[in-house]
Parts: sequence; structure tokens; C-alpha cells
Amino acid sequence: MERKLQQLFFALSLLALVLILVAEWQASTPSWKPYQRKFLQLEAQEEPNAVSKAAVLATPLAINQVVLPGLQRVDRCTTCHLGVEDPTMKNAPGPFHYHAGLGPHVPSKFGCTICHGGQGLATDMKDAHGNVAFWQTPLLPADYVRASCGRCHKEGDVPGVPELTEGRHLFETEGCHGCHKLNGVGGSIGPDLTEEGANHRSPEWLERHFLAPNAVSPGSAMPNFHFTREQARALTYYMLSLTSGDMGSYYSSERLIPSPEYGRQLFVEKDCIVCHAIGGVGAKVGPDLLGVTKRHSDEWLDEQLVNPELVYPGSSMPKYDLESNARKALVAFLASATPKDAQDILASKGHALTPEDAAIEAGKQDFARFGCAGCHGTELQGGVANPNAQGEQVPSLLHVSDDYTKEEVIGIIRDGRVSPMDNPKGSAPPLYMPSWKNVLSNEDINHIADFLWSKQQKKESW
Ligand code: HEC
Ligand code: HEC
Ligand code: HEC
Ligand code: HEC
Ligand code: HEC
Ligand code: HEC
Repeated sequence: MERKLQQLFFALSLLALVLILVAEWQASTPSWKPYQRKFLQLEAQEEPNAVSKAAVLATPLAINQVVLPGLQRVDRCTTCHLGVEDPTMKNAPGPFHYHAGLGPHVPSKFGCTICHGGQGLATDMKDAHGNVAFWQTPLLPADYVRASCGRCHKEGDVPGVPELTEGRHLFETEGCHGCHKLNGVGGSIGPDLTEEGANHRSPEWLERHFLAPNAVSPGSAMPNFHFTREQARALTYYMLSLTSGDMGSYYSSERLIPSPEYGRQLFVEKDCIVCHAIGGVGAKVGPDLLGVTKRHSDEWLDEQLVNPELVYPGSSMPKYDLESNARKALVAFLASATPKDAQDILASKGHALTPEDAAIEAGKQDFARFGCAGCHGTELQGGVANPNAQGEQVPSLLHVSDDYTKEEVIGIIRDGRVSPMDNPKGSAPPLYMPSWKNVLSNEDINHIADFLWSKQQKKESW
């Protein structure tokens, strides 16, 4: 035993020594220096006379680095990518050219890996670009870089990246939650996707998998949704953006762009229109909001949305507990809102819902949100393959009222059910009906049953 330990200790010491030597060797043959010399030559060309040329060429070479507070990241990419912040380097070659379109994401604050991936600390090109066996996040191919925007801009639309909105929408409506957990919500037949974007899956893998899960993961229980290429691309963007989240207060404080579109969405969600009109269209419980941003400063409005009571003691306006960006988005919407907006919002609300309709609507939303659609189909049509289950498919839910009472269906949803096997000697069917009792409240389950009942089709009678 003791001998084994000694041998182990010796082996480890040897390993440490080798590692130190390798690091020393790398530092003494820095592959970044030639790039800096070339860059200085480029800069020197622009100088008017020999003296200033010589001065530029004499600039000492040095590693440039950006430390990203709170993110445990140090990016040295600008050691070679030297012209990113210099617009005169627009037409410069190779790694020296100017980076257009960065806007507020300045390299000195954001670095590069946050959007591109790669290995920030490395100063050798191959290592830095992450094309080495041990590095899990190599540079994203150019086509997918914009997926990273969603790592910080998690809500609302990201300007110029419609793929993220589309991907999120598909995720919510196609029933992915039925088999996958995302931030704690969803089933567990497939892997948890909360960290999918920090994972080792390459964009190409993800996209191929969405087009045909079985071709990539043979025998996968994930159905083929027959997505188009654009849809597969959109979902891939969304997956790449999922990195569980905390980008550090430094970045997350403003992580949401307070766009008027997002503000409009909030205005609809929070039903502000039940008390307010815009240019005479809407209700009159509170003041008309047309031009309200001209009557009050942004700070005043922000304060008012945080706590209406403080601004107007005894106010009947509810406190909404909106985060700072949501309040900014609402104010941005109010700055441009017109009576036409109010008309559209009222029209899309339609007539007031009866309690029965409201329960069915709630059930419909739960059905989508908790991913029942992923196995039973968005139209409840069933048909997802389930080898060796009786019928070989997940059943349609369009006829459950023929076979069960509502109480029985509520029981199935609550407790779940394993399909009987066609061939008892074969392997268990990959899909089963999960138990939802720890996920959904009784009220949610009742609403879903109401929704199912509203969809029941009569059997053909002959
Ligand atoms: C040792 C120098 C060096 C370092 C360090 C370096 N790069 Fe590069 N990079 C280059 C060169 C050279 C090219 C140009 C390659 C070409 O044009 O063929 C390049 C090209 C790129 C490209 C264009 C796409 C591509 O693959 O050709 C991106 C994106 C990029 N680098 C990002 C980064 C990021 C992010 C980092 C930091 C993690 C980084 N680079 C660190 C030298 C470097
Ligand atoms: C806010 C996100 C963001 C940050 C931060 C960022 N980039 Fe980019 N970068 C992009 C996007 C988006 C593109 C365009 C990709 C495309 O669609 O072709 C791009 C393009 C590039 C290209 C050209 C790619 C090619 O294939 O020709 C290089 C090189 C590059 N970036 C290097 C860097 C370096 C070096 C840094 C750090 C100083 C950096 N980027 C920081 C988002 C970013
Ligand atoms: C690391 C987090 C992070 C990433 C990644 C990121 N952003 Fe941002 N973005 C921010 C922050 C923080 C702000 C607010 C900057 C400020 O106001 O100082 C911002 C602001 C913006 C704005 C508002 C610009 C303005 O002038 O007000 C737009 C548009 C935007 N980002 C788009 C993008 C796009 C497109 C991408 C991907 C190419 C992206 N962002 C990637 C954090 C991020
Ligand atoms: C009927 C259950 C089911 C549904 C519905 C489903 N998946 Fe899957 N998914 C799986 C299973 C099982 C796997 C693991 C086997 C595989 O790789 O295909 C998987 C794998 C994945 C993976 C790869 C994870 C990894 O890194 O290994 C992603 C990404 C994914 N699913 C996304 C989705 C999205 C997005 C949707 C909705 C459009 C969806 N899934 C719907 C069952 C499902
Ligand atoms: C239950 C009714 C009610 C709802 C719902 C409501 N408000 Fe109000 N709001 C009021 C009343 C009443 C006032 C007038 C001042 C007071 O008593 O607080 C007011 C005042 C305001 C003001 C200040 C207007 C001014 O000219 O002084 C703004 C801005 C505002 N509300 C925005 C909103 C937004 C945005 C929403 C939705 C997120 C909303 N309100 C939802 C009742 C409501
Ligand atoms: C992972 C796939 C999967 C998910 C997600 C799923 N189910 Fe099922 N469900 C099944 C399978 C498989 C059966 C068939 C079980 C059997 O053969 O007894 C089934 C059966 C049912 C039945 C009985 C149908 C019948 O004719 O026997 C109902 C009702 C039902 N599911 C409702 C739901 C609801 C509501 C949800 C969402 C809260 C949901 N299911 C989510 C796979 C799933």
C-alpha cells in the first residue's frame, strides 16, 4: 500500500515538472510576437517621417489582456487582434482589422470570448481559437456568433437576431418541455437543457440533431419534428444561448434592451389598458397615457411604476414589481404609443372571457408550457413513435372522453402511466406518461382536463 502511494507521488511530481517545463518553453517561444511586429510595421507605414516610423517600431511588445470582473475570465485575444478598436484599420489584413458593429460592447470591457468562444488566456493562435482537444468551447463558426447575444439579452427581442426569438417561440410551442428540463421546469426523458450552450455540443451537431434526432443519436426517443432548416437553425441559436445565466452584475444589470416592443408586450401582459387609455382609446380609471413621457421625466415615471403609492398617495394603481429594464421598456413604449396601438391591443383581447373560457385558455397554455405537446402533438393528434408500446405510438388525446371520465383522466395526468408492452420480452418503450403531481397543481391539472374536453371529437358513427 505504502509503496503504491510512493509510486503515485513520484509519478505526480514528474507530471508537475513536465507541465512546468512545457509552460516555460511556451513562454520563451511566444507565437504572438510576430503578429505584434507585423502590426507595428503596418502602423509605421502611416507615419510621415523616418523618426516617427522608428519610434513606432520601437514600441515594446506586450501581452494585452482584458479582465472580466465577476466572470472568472481573462481575454488576451487583443494581443494579436490589435486593430479591433481602430476604425482606420478597416481594410487591414488578417487579425489586425477593425471590428465594426460592436456598439456598447467595447473590447476593453467585454473582451471577445463572451461572444466568440475560444480560450481567453492563451496567446498561441491554435490554443486561443480553442481548436485543441481539451478545450470545450472553440470559436463559434461565424454563422453562429450572434447566438451568443442571447446569453446576456435573455428577454425581449435582440435587434438583428430574429433567430433567437423564433427559437424560443418554437421551444415554448412544440412541447420540448415535456421531455426536457429548462431552469427547473419540464420532464426528464431527455437531458436537462439549462446549460446546453455551455456544453460540448457543436452548432453543427445541434442543427443536424434537430433535423433528424435519430440519425445523430441512433434510437433516440426524441421525435423528428420535421423542422425546416431555418427552424433548426433558430433552435440551435437558442440552445447555444442557454448558459444558465448569471453573467455577473457587471453585465446583467443592463442585460435586457429596453425596446419599445418589449414594453408593448408588458403593457399587454399587465393589462394596463383596463385602467388607461391612449389618446382616448381604452379605459378612464387612470389618466390618458398619450404623451405622458412629455409631461413627466423618465425618472419620475420610473418611480411611479416602482411605487404608485409614493407618487400618488392612496393610488389605486397596482404595484407591479417590475425589474428596472422592464420599467425602462414600458417607458420606451409609452414614448411612442398611439391610439392605434390601444385599438390593436383591445382588438386582440377580444371580448371578456367567461370563467369557463378562462379555465380552458389556462389549460391550453399549461398544455404547451409543460410540454404535453411534445409527446401528444400540438393538435393533440398523438402519433409520436414509441416502439414496443401497445399501438407503437403515443396516443392521440382527441378521443379520451370515449374511454374515460374526466376524473379518470385527471388521475392519469396526476399519477402518470407506463404503456403496456407489445412484446414482454423486448425492451421497455422509451416513452411513458410521466406523473405530473409534483409539477402541476391540482388546479392546473383541472384546467388541462377542461382544455382536453373542449377539444374532444365525436367518433364517426356508422
Ligand atoms: C496568436 C495570435 C492570435 C490570438 C492570441 C488570437 N487570434 Fe484570432 N486570429 C489570429 C489570426 C492570425 C487570424 C486570421 C486567420 C486567417 O485569416 O486565416 C485570426 C482569426 C480570428 C477570427 C476569424 C475567424 C477565423 O477562424 O478565421 C476570429 C473570430 C478570431 N480570430 C477570434 C479570436 C478570439 C476570440 C481570440 C481570443 C480567445 C483570438 N482570436 C486570439 C490570431 C490570433
Ligand atoms: C458583442 C459580441 C461580440 C464581441 C464582444 C466581439 N465580437 Fe467579433 N464578431 C461578432 C459578430 C456578431 C461578428 C460577425 C459574424 C458574422 O456574422 O460574420 C463578429 C465578427 C468578428 C470577426 C470576423 C469573423 C470572420 O469570420 O471574418 C473577427 C475576426 C472578430 N469578430 C474578432 C473579435 C475579437 C478579436 C473580439 C475581441 C476584441 C471580438 N470579435 C469581440 C460579435 C462580437
Ligand atoms: C456579455 C453580455 C452581452 C452580450 C454577449 C451581448 N450584449 Fe448587447 N448589451 C449588453 C449590455 C450590458 C448592454 C448595455 C450597454 C450599456 O448601456 O452600457 C448591451 C446593449 C445592447 C444594445 C443596445 C445598444 C444601445 O446603443 O443602447 C443592443 C442593440 C445590443 N446590446 C445588441 C447585442 C447583440 C446584437 C449582441 C450579439 C452580437 C449582443 N448585444 C451581445 C450585454 C451583452
Ligand atoms: C418525446 C421526448 C422528447 C421531446 C418532445 C423532445 N426531446 Fe430533445 N431529446 C430527447 C431525448 C431522449 C434526447 C437524448 C437522445 C438524443 O440525443 O436524441 C434528446 C436530446 C436533445 C438534445 C441534445 C442534448 C445533448 O446535448 O445531448 C437537444 C438539444 C434537444 N433534445 C432539444 C429538444 C428541443 C429543442 C425539443 C423541442 C423542439 C425537444 N428536444 C423535444 C427527448 C425529447
Ligand atoms: C387598476 C387600475 C390601473 C392599472 C391596472 C394601471 N394603472 Fe396606471 N394609473 C392608475 C391610476 C388611477 C393613476 C392615476 C394616479 C394614481 O392614482 O396613482 C395611474 C397613473 C399612471 C401613470 C402616471 C400618469 C400621469 O399622467 O400622471 C402612469 C405612467 C401609469 N399609470 C402607467 C401604467 C402602466 C404602464 C400600467 C401597466 C403596467 C398601469 N399604469 C396600470 C390606475 C391603473
Ligand atoms: C414523455 C412523453 C409524454 C409526455 C410529456 C406526456 N405524455 Fe401523456 N402519455 C404518454 C404516453 C406514452 C401515454 C400512453 C400510456 C399508456 O399507453 O397507457 C400517455 C397517455 C396520456 C393520457 C391517457 C390517454 C389514453 O388514451 O390512454 C392522457 C390523458 C395524457 N397522456 C395526458 C397528458 C398531459 C395532459 C400531458 C402534459 C401535462 C402529457 N400527457 C404529457 C406520453 C407522454
